[in-house]
Amino acid sequence: MAKAQPASEIDWNDLGFDYMDLPYRFLAHYENGKWDEGGLTEDSTLHISEGSTALHYGQADFEGLKAYRTKDGSIQLFRPDQNAKRMHNSCERLLMPAFPEDKFVEAVKAVVKANADYVPPYGTGGTLYLRPLMIGVGGNIGVHPAQEYIFTIFAMPVGAYYKGGMTPTNYVTSDYDRAAHKGTGQSKVGGNYAASLLPGDEAHKQGYSDVIYLDPVNHQTIEEVGSANFFGITKDDEFITPKSPSILPSITKFSLLWLAENRLGLKATQGVVDIDDLDKFKEAGACGTAAVISPIGSLTHHGKKHVFYSETEVGPTIKKLYDTLTGIQFGDVEAPEGWIQKVEV
Ligand SMILES: Cc1ncc(COP(=O)(O)O)c(C=O)c1O
Repeated sequence: MAKAQPASEIDWNDLGFDYMDLPYRFLAHYENGKWDEGGLTEDSTLHISEGSTALHYGQADFEGLKAYRTKDGSIQLFRPDQNAKRMHNSCERLLMPAFPEDKFVEAVKAVVKANADYVPPYGTGGTLYLRPLMIGVGGNIGVHPAQEYIFTIFAMPVGAYYKGGMTPTNYVTSDYDRAAHKGTGQSKVGGNYAASLLPGDEAHKQGYSDVIYLDPVNHQTIEEVGSANFFGITKDDEFITPKSPSILPSITKFSLLWLAENRLGLKATQGVVDIDDLDKFKEAGACGTAAVISPIGSLTHHGKKHVFYSETEVGPTIKKLYDTLTGIQFGDVEAPEGWIQKVEV
């Protein structure tokens, strides 16, 4: 795998969401019941035993967050403490030793600082995407937790989700389940994503941009959207997002719940979104670190297509939420206390 080209040669307006082997990543090891200090390394290849539990039994979890370049050229992170906390929860579910949350945030900052040239310029819409990852390693064969773990954080510049303005896309429900209520849906673990590959592929082959999962018990209420959470704006201006034990607690979703209520003056709740009751929504969207906010143009369920605001234009409330959220992330709009952490370069 070739190393990334020098930052000075990158066309920032032509970035997608692709792996890039940047100069530095953070790497820490857990052995004999404790984490070492860890540190930055230039080696992007992990050397692990064939008996690693991550390989056989999916003992692996991860996170995803971004660093943003502001107008004055500084770099900032959006709620990295929340990613640290969620990874802690994912680790508990898979019997993995969480990396200390304060050290997680410090390590994220160290990776951003070491690769600072690769944080895209303000105004391009690009960001530095960070991928914290933990895997069970060592010589194992039985189904039990590993004794040794690797925690790494690598990074790559990614492009703006929308190159030419926000455009709604079309979605379809799936007959597959992503996760069970008492399973691992609320944890960011590799197995959930392996299970989502087939339904995602089927949706793409039918021309949809992604799949919408329904609840795994009755297939009646909306759970989430591919790798993003769902939300809708009702005709009486309420922001509603599904509450379920099998969806990933999206940091973007919780941020939007707060912003909808406190900055847009909407009522904002987590509740039930019945697949047969979509008429009550005037707008709908998908939200997440990668997707930011993606307007949902239409949703097809059992062959019946429901159009929300429009298949070609973004609705006014979603546009306002998008401008507020991205304004905070890129430093143009005042952030609620504690949401932004600066990276000293
Ligand atoms: C399954 C799933 N749901 C929702 C999200 C959105 O979460 P967040 O807003 O924390 O990125 C993600 C992405 O992290 C995801 O993978």
